[in-house]
Amino acid sequence: MKNIAILCSGGDVSGMNAALKRFVEYSLTKGLTPYFVHNGFEGLIDNNIYRTGYRDVAGIISRGGTKIKTSRSQRFLEQSYRKKALDNLRSHNIDHLIILGGDGSFKGMQKLSDESTDITFAGIPSTIDNDIAGTEYCLGVDTSLNVIKCAIDSIHDTAASFNRAFVIETMGRECGYLALVSALTSGAEMCLIPEIPYDLDNYKKRFKKEIEEGRAYFIALVSEALGNTEEIAQWFQEEVGVDSRMMVLGHMQRGGNPTVYDRLMAYHFVTHAIDGLMEGHQCSVVCYKACGFSHKNIEEVAFKKYHINEGLLKLGREYARSS
Ligand code: F6P
Repeated sequence: MKNIAILCSGGDVSGMNAALKRFVEYSLTKGLTPYFVHNGFEGLIDNNIYRTGYRDVAGIISRGGTKIKTSRSQRFLEQSYRKKALDNLRSHNIDHLIILGGDGSFKGMQKLSDESTDITFAGIPSTIDNDIAGTEYCLGVDTSLNVIKCAIDSIHDTAASFNRAFVIETMGRECGYLALVSALTSGAEMCLIPEIPYDLDNYKKRFKKEIEEGRAYFIALVSEALGNTEEIAQWFQEEVGVDSRMMVLGHMQRGGNPTVYDRLMAYHFVTHAIDGLMEGHQCSVVCYKACGFSHKNIEEVAFKKYHINEGLLKLGREYARSS
């Protein structure tokens, strides 16, 4: 019987608990013994490694955050602590380790892999920032976007009542994904992100014209990477001539009841991580690619039967398995 462990590292995301549940259940289905590492890389160094089972994951799928906690570890940057971490894994006879985290966590994972030959590793992109190269989706992004959506919808009400401009700052580190998608899906008038150059004078001209034509209030989304949220709120007041307020959404963007999409993606990510380890991958990250849009002839659509996607059916077939 092989042993497999999982840990969460860096910023928590909603969907991590769904991933933990799937991890336990799928490991057991595959004849693996599951272990939790509490408190991320810090826990690996401190030997917080525990055998787990169904009981530990009952009822957690609907909770945000992570039941096994997470950390940002400075000690892990030092080779001596990574050696301790590997020794701790060996003391529990762990053969495989799954890491839920962002690119910093994956750099740590690569170091562990470089410094060992007896343990294999799989990464699951998990960050609200959606900033990991190679994957179009990171666990937690959809829930975060929905939390932001609810906040903006509420702000809309008061912005409209007072005829104000609201400048709303989203997280995302250097990546503007959260701000951009939130702006598009909330009907915002302005979106400032590091990936798109902008000219405030152009915005000013447009907004002044729109005010003349009847626009009464504004919603602006600004990515935290730009560091100018307050300045933009002042700009609305002084240059556009609209009373303004700023709002930093902050860590609420990391919490909340995980959406259906994140729960499902957690299941897919973990399934692929475990399958990849079983197939012999030494150190890989499970990446997702959306297939995009296409045009199909009407005959291929109107007269054909819909089939549920094979990956989803594969998960569903597990319900029918015999013990
Ligand atoms: O990487 C996730 C993230 O939430 C970023 O969007 C944000 O800049 C950062 O973490 C905040 O980190 P902390 O929780 O350590 O304040």
